Amino acid sequence: MQTDFLVIGSGIAGLTYAIKVARACPDKKVLIVTKTNADETNTKYAQGGIAVVNDLEKDSYDKHIEDTLIAGDGLCNETIVDLVVKEGPERVQEIIEWGARFDKDADGDYALGKEGGHSEKRILHHKDVTGAEMERALLETLRQCRNVELVNHYFVVDLITQHHFGYLVTKATPDIQCYGVYALNLHTNQIDVLQAGVTLLATGGNGQVYRTTTNPSIASGDGVAMVYRAKGRIENMEFIQFHPTALYQAGQKGQAFLVTEAVRGDGGILRNHQGEAFMERYDERKDLAPRDIVARAIDSEMKINGTEHVWLDCRHIPLPQFLHHFPNIYEKCKSLGIEVEKDMIPVAPAAHYSCGGIKTDEWGRTSIRNLYAAGECASTGLHGANRLASNSLLEAMVFAHRSFLDSTSVVQQSTLSRPHLPEWNAKGTGMPREMILITQSLKELQQVMSDYVGIVRNDVRLQRAMKRLDLLWEETEALYRSSVISPQIMELRNMITVGYLITKGAAFRKESRGLHYNTDYPEKSTLLQNIVL
Ligand code: FAD
Ligand code: SIN
Repeated sequence: MQTDFLVIGSGIAGLTYAIKVARACPDKKVLIVTKTNADETNTKYAQGGIAVVNDLEKDSYDKHIEDTLIAGDGLCNETIVDLVVKEGPERVQEIIEWGARFDKDADGDYALGKEGGHSEKRILHHKDVTGAEMERALLETLRQCRNVELVNHYFVVDLITQHHFGYLVTKATPDIQCYGVYALNLHTNQIDVLQAGVTLLATGGNGQVYRTTTNPSIASGDGVAMVYRAKGRIENMEFIQFHPTALYQAGQKGQAFLVTEAVRGDGGILRNHQGEAFMERYDERKDLAPRDIVARAIDSEMKINGTEHVWLDCRHIPLPQFLHHFPNIYEKCKSLGIEVEKDMIPVAPAAHYSCGGIKTDEWGRTSIRNLYAAGECASTGLHGANRLASNSLLEAMVFAHRSFLDSTSVVQQSTLSRPHLPEWNAKGTGMPREMILITQSLKELQQVMSDYVGIVRNDVRLQRAMKRLDLLWEETEALYRSSVISPQIMELRNMITVGYLITKGAAFRKESRGLHYNTDYPEKSTLLQNIVL
């Protein structure tokens, strides 16, 4: 199959980019592939909203920039922060024109929420289901583009580079080029060759590497693993953001329901099992300190008290106000017998967001020619060592736009010179005899990552994690080489790679900064460095 633009992923980054290139180049073909249903994305689950400067009389670009830099703890790229904050309002206006609705107050002005680390109220939201509303608007807008094809249940396996023509490609190869991808068509169970002028990776996050995460099951870091295999640059993977307040349900593993930070923005207070509002002891910004601080404080309270969760107290928030802003959370709690006006909500931290990823420049270009990355899979330099709440939907839109601007000229050139691409080689493989080997290895991976490479790390834990990952890697590679490709084996393989990259980044970083906290090096180093793998 041949296309001009190939988009991998149908979240906010992939859809924004696809709409833009399709409209700007009506004579070109745009193909979006997505591994499950189009709307099953991290984007759909976004709750709090999108951080953007709305009113220059009450807020300012400088304040949003400053808040982002403080959260990023010295590692943000200031040029990138500046351009995201300043280009953000235009991108938000665009999605409003495409039909996304954000809540307004009685005067008809946007009702702005507040989240941790923000010095002003600046979060546009749609109730507590902002992401679902944005995904809806994007999919509806996309349907009007005649030159776009969106194919669900199409699992991208690997990028095609010179390596597939028999050339030796290493990290030192100066001009690695992407010609398209191999993808498993889950309707036919065949591996297809998708040839593309330009490819955009918008494959989202990797929360599934951990035992408990706010991310849905699609978040297995496939894009990062593919780029790493293709010898592209990956950076700052150790900065995994744990959201402080996922709803705690005893014995639950996998995707946890999020209780948005905006609840604390509206007055929710964290309490330990003695009923103490403990955040006062950890940071003067209390419950609205940046996420790394709140998540570590909760982790510490849980360890001191030997409990599996803390409480989020919303009983003092007037019920009509809670219901108006958080109807989805109210209903979810109610379904579990929690009445937020009377009961406190049990919450615990869960893996939430990957700040690092595929290294890109200010135009979304990766280190591989004709390959762009945007959204959570990319490391643009915006977040540094810790992402400011609600900055990621914004980043995805800004870099989808910038990748669009850059790639429309590139596509003309690369579409003219199309080499013949080799078919996928499945020689010597058969059906795996026991799927349980895959599910068991996944459980082990999640256990290792949660126990040894979680919120608090140290050298011994990281060494242990590395040893166990090595073994998992060896076993999984053997299984992969002898098995017919399936999404399960590919996701496991990708997640082990991502686990390895997180652990390796963490082991290299001999300091504590932002989201990376190592008790053997509790201070910040004077050397500011991004760890590129
Ligand atoms: P996604 O939306 O995750 O889309 C990834 C796409 O890639 C999917 O379509 C998937 O099928 C596809 N894909 C992946 N691998 C493959 C493959 N191998 N083959 C084919 N397709 C593939 N951010 C904010 O700014 N504000 C918020 O309020 C907010 N709340 C959040 C709440 C929750 C519960 C979560 C989980 C995240 C939240 N975030 C929030 C973060 C934000 O939602 C994500 O970072 C963002 O939506 C990521 O968008 P994306 O387009 O990069 O990826
Ligand atoms: C939330 O709503 O608390 C999540 C916001 C984010 O991840 O940016």
